[in-house]
Amino acid sequence: MLDFAIRLGKRAGEYLREHLHDEITIEHKGRIDLVTNIDRQSQNRIVSEIERAFPDHSILAEEGFRKKGGSPFTWVIDPLDGTNNFIHRIPFFCVSIAIMKKKELHIGVCCNPVNGDLFWAQAGRGAYRSGVQLSVSRTLRMIDSMVATGFPYDQDNVEAVIGRFTRVLKKARGIRRLGSAALDLCHVACGSFDAFWEEGLKPWDMAAGVMILQEAGGLVTCLDGSPFDLYRGDILASNTRVHDELQRCLRGDHD
Ligand code: IPD
Ligand code: CA
Ligand code: CA
Repeated sequence: MLDFAIRLGKRAGEYLREHLHDEITIEHKGRIDLVTNIDRQSQNRIVSEIERAFPDHSILAEEGFRKKGGSPFTWVIDPLDGTNNFIHRIPFFCVSIAIMKKKELHIGVCCNPVNGDLFWAQAGRGAYRSGVQLSVSRTLRMIDSMVATGFPYDQDNVEAVIGRFTRVLKKARGIRRLGSAALDLCHVACGSFDAFWEEGLKPWDMAAGVMILQEAGGLVTCLDGSPFDLYRGDILASNTRVHDELQRCLRGDHD
């Protein structure tokens, strides 16, 4: 199943790369929540390959595909994470594919087809980028940390989001907003980022990246420090060492 998921991720990534400079059709799911014909095509290709190989597996895919099968395995798919980047031809997006076994994450694969990064992890087997085992950074303090974040499409709570952003900005070495939550998590896994937080996410934004980060030795919780819940939408992910300090800062303890 792992090899199949890796092949699937690579092929779907290749499809995105081939169509990056095409004329694309954009639809609005919300004011700034967009979907293109390429997202949909990428998803159709992934889903049909899974259905052919594993007809009894469940599937949850971003662009409106849900299927309940009889097996304990569920595929959680974002066929293009970083749609806004893709639309603007910013070369930072990926295909994100996770497999859950009952309620547990089992496999995660993220493929960035632009630079060829292929991240994968399986529960208990470690996390890898293009064959090299990954581990999180050893940074101890926020002042030495590079932290990633994202802004939710739903802007009802924007003041609170900016409040948290400002507090972290005052404590960390830097903040980056790169536009693909799945890749943000992979970059905590490989140690480029020391931490990542966001809210308003969906299971397909996080599932594969969380598996990869956990297998690289990272810690993932909800923003308030409670156990991570894939369906709640908020996430605080780190190298473990800066987790408490970042969590207190997000909460406003340093004000
Ligand atoms: C989005 C990206 C982005 C994050 C958004 C996500 P999409 O996914 O992961 O980085 O900030 O919250 O929805 O829409 O490009 O698949
Ligand atoms: Ca996404
Ligand atoms: Ca997407």
